Amino acid sequence: MEYLTLNNGNKMPMAGIGVFTLTPEEAEAAVESALRSGVRLIDTANGYMNESATGRGIKNSGVAREEIFVVTKLWPTVYERENAIDETIKRLGTDYIDLLFLHQPTDNWRAGYRAIEKAYKEGKVKAIGLSNFPNDLLKEAINTMEINPQVVQDEAHPYYPATDLKEILKGNDMGLMAWFPLGHGDKALIEEPVFAKIAEKYAKSNAQIILRWHVQSGNIVIPGSKNPEHIRDNFAIFDFALTDEEMAEIAKVDKGARYYQASPELLARYATMELKEDL
Ligand SMILES: NC(=O)c1ccc[n+]([C@@H]2O[C@H](COP(=O)([O-])OP(=O)(O)OC[C@H]3O[C@@H](n4cnc5c(N)ncnc54)[C@H](OP(=O)(O)O)[C@@H]3O)[C@@H](O)[C@H]2O)c1
Repeated sequence: MEYLTLNNGNKMPMAGIGVFTLTPEEAEAAVESALRSGVRLIDTANGYMNESATGRGIKNSGVAREEIFVVTKLWPTVYERENAIDETIKRLGTDYIDLLFLHQPTDNWRAGYRAIEKAYKEGKVKAIGLSNFPNDLLKEAINTMEINPQVVQDEAHPYYPATDLKEILKGNDMGLMAWFPLGHGDKALIEEPVFAKIAEKYAKSNAQIILRWHVQSGNIVIPGSKNPEHIRDNFAIFDFALTDEEMAEIAKVDKGARYYQASPELLARYATMELKEDL
């Protein structure tokens, strides 16, 4: 495993699993299986409604809490709720969160950010993150909030390497956690001929080449998978390295095109969308 040192000195594994779209049963099984196969970074969210299941998966794995880097995200409707962070910690069945994001840039984000800063000072949260924030709001957070974020989570993959965002992050010593690292499983991306060619050389799969490209680009990856074989393969990316020429070849597939961008209308809906019960 390779680690990224955050701007507060904490170390974060560069590869883990995400449990977006997984049912509680699937998330519990995926987290347990991932931890048993050596994964130490888990990404969930209030909005995935599987934080309790993630907590059960962690417990079932038998892996010590201090060995695991647990990441979750506050949902906009709880940004201003007094106990939101304590409730999140309780659902996860843990004493602290390694990295806590604001999930969406809704109008009330500043209140949510201050709540995370307070929890950070109290030791309940070990690092602060912003997810899906447009560059102007990210710059506002950097310039006006007391504590700088450590990590941003946003869409990134070879079709969309998030070049402008990465410039801002580089200038502020902040890490990028890439969501949709495999293009949400898009065959067109995974089967790009350049990956097949490089995969053959290293006896790896196309997905492993994409994930290795992320890590060498400085990105933390959290590929989603229900398939234990994929989960295992997605971490077997630290025993080889792409050459500068291969990194440059992969850079050519950049289309500057995202798969997903929340519209202002959708963000307005998120601001009032109450969470369902997390079982
Ligand atoms: N902050 C946000 O707003 C946000 C938004 C989206 C996602 N995320 C985070 O990012 C994580 C990843 O996103 P995602 O799961 O949507 O997209 P993804 O990781 O890019 O792609 C997942 C898809 O790739 C397939 N896959 C995984 N490993 C593979 C392999 N080795 N070979 C071939 N196919 C493989 C999976 O199928 P199988 O099940 O068959 O393996 C699944 O269909 C989420 O779980 C979540 O934690 C965050």
